[in-house]
This record gives sequence, structure tokens and C-alpha cells, in this order.
Amino acid sequence: MQALAGDAAGCTRCRLAGTRTNVVFGMGRPRAGLVFVGEAPGEQEDLQGLPFVGRSGQLLDRLVLEEMGLTREDFYITNTVKCRPPGNRDPLPDEIELCSPFLDRQLEWIDPSVVVTLGNFATRLLLGTTEGISRVRGRTYPYRNGRLVPTFHPSAALRGGGQVVAQMRADLVRAKEALAPAGHARGGQR
Ligand code: URA
Repeated sequence: MQALAGDAAGCTRCRLAGTRTNVVFGMGRPRAGLVFVGEAPGEQEDLQGLPFVGRSGQLLDRLVLEEMGLTREDFYITNTVKCRPPGNRDPLPDEIELCSPFLDRQLEWIDPSVVVTLGNFATRLLLGTTEGISRVRGRTYPYRNGRLVPTFHPSAALRGGGQVVAQMRADLVRAKEALAPAGHARGGQR
């Protein structure tokens, strides 16, 4: 994983290399049973080199603690695209495709029981669908050796308010239940 992070740190595969401050590879428990996958780093993440350290991350941390009883030490968290798109624009299809081998190898190495995708970009990439998050959330999907639980991106919850937050909470409970059968406590550490 460290070798992969080293590769990512020097990556120039796409145009985002020209505008980033830091590559945001991922953080958390290296052999976690639970992995969250977001969209792309924002301003704070780009400056600090860490995922979900801005407002979205604070909301996510609170919801995960309240619904799953877990903290950052218990899970791994990363993004679909590892570098900040300028002005926080959506990542472009070629950026997602060129960056996807990093996420692919992270997931292969961690081999989690449960992956929670946050928002459309991670969900579409990992489920191989073109459907939007509102349509696919609310259930659990088979994924590699485990399961995938799609939910809203926390920025949608910040914008959308109570109803979106309530649906996110329900999805996190779903993720907790998906972790449970494997006998995994605290994020399914192994
Ligand atoms: N939004 C994301 O999708 N990822 C981050 O790391 C921060 C905000």
C-alpha cells in the first residue's frame, strides 16, 4: 500500500497533476473491514493531503459515529479521484478512468467486507451503473468478496437537509448490519 501511495504521489497521468497541491491517497485502518469511497478532494483536502477533512468530512464523521459507533481509526476512507479538480468541479470521465487503478488496487489490498460509496461518482464506478444515487441507494449489493452500500455524498446532505441526512443515517445502519454477519466489531478489523 505504501508503494502504491508513493506511485500516486508522483502521478502525472491526468491534468489534475498540474493544479493539485497534494495527492490525497486515503487514510485510516490499513486492513479495515469497512471502506468509504468519496468523490474527489476539495480545497481543505488538497491543502492537507487528507480525505474528508472539510465540512463534508465533519458531517460524515458525526453520522458514522452516531449510527455505527465508529471513528476514523476503525475504517479506511479514500476517493474515486485522488487529486482536487479545480474549483471543485466534477471529475471528468477520463480523470476517473485514469485514476481508477489506484482505487482498484486499494480495494484489492484491503479486501473489505463492506464498501460504502458516497454519491454518484463512486457508486457509478464501483457498481458499473449509470443510475443516479437516489435510485440505487436503500439496498445492499454484492461487491467483490463483500458487499457495497451506496449512499448520498455528505455534501448533498449539507445542501439537502433533514430528509437526505435521514436517508444517509438509514444507509449507515445498513452498512453496520452488513458488517455484522462476518463477526466484525469496530469496523471489521482483522
Ligand atoms: N468530498 C469528497 O468527495 N472527498 C473528500 O475528500 C472531501 C470532500
